[in-house]
Amino acid sequence: MSEPLTVRVVLIGDSQVGKTSLIHRFVRNSFEKQQKNTVGAVFHTYTEEVDGQTIIMQIWDTAGQEKYRSLGPIYYRNASAGIAVLDISFPDSLQRLQQWIDDFRKFTDNPILYIVGNKTDIENPDLNMRSQIESFASKNSAETYFTSAKTGDNVNELFKTVFSHLVKSGKLSHAMKSRVSSKKEEKVETGCC
Ligand code: GTP
Repeated sequence: MSEPLTVRVVLIGDSQVGKTSLIHRFVRNSFEKQQKNTVGAVFHTYTEEVDGQTIIMQIWDTAGQEKYRSLGPIYYRNASAGIAVLDISFPDSLQRLQQWIDDFRKFTDNPILYIVGNKTDIENPDLNMRSQIESFASKNSAETYFTSAKTGDNVNELFKTVFSHLVKSGKLSHAMKSRVSSKKEEKVETGCC
């Protein structure tokens, strides 16, 4: 059996947009109404077998609070993908996302980027956020997803798509570019750096 391969994905974006909640919905299928602010960063893992090869996706949850912002680069290094999250009910979080993305790109090498409009369960259609997010994503050569960590809408799809995208992207070795098998495993860990 060959050694497992690891790939790093980092969630970025303002405090309170729902980064931790999205990860917890994916790895634990749970949601907390009063989620604590992330301090520093924490990672979780999602593991799948792809044609007999174990691939571990490390999902890094970084802190959105301003006081932790300077720590970001420690966690961005070696990331193959970024998930830039905003709160679809709070337009300011989209305006501030560009700075997060610029900082992330400074410390990564051509990462895959997703822009995620979270909290669709409290979306106000009058704000017309979806089209603004689509054009923002297109300017940043990123793909978009609209999710609700509260209801779970689109959350599994998001992380599974990112995983498959990484497998197919050439960010992993040749042996892993083929079909993703249905065998999978989930594990949660916390750690640093
Ligand atoms: P930091 O750790 O400070 O960076 O915040 P964060 O981006 O990780 O946000 P967090 O997941 O802690 O969520 C912030 C608040 O938004 C919490 O009260 C969550 O319960 C709530 N929340 C997260 N996702 C959703 C969602 O999809 N819908 C609704 N209605 N609330 C959400």
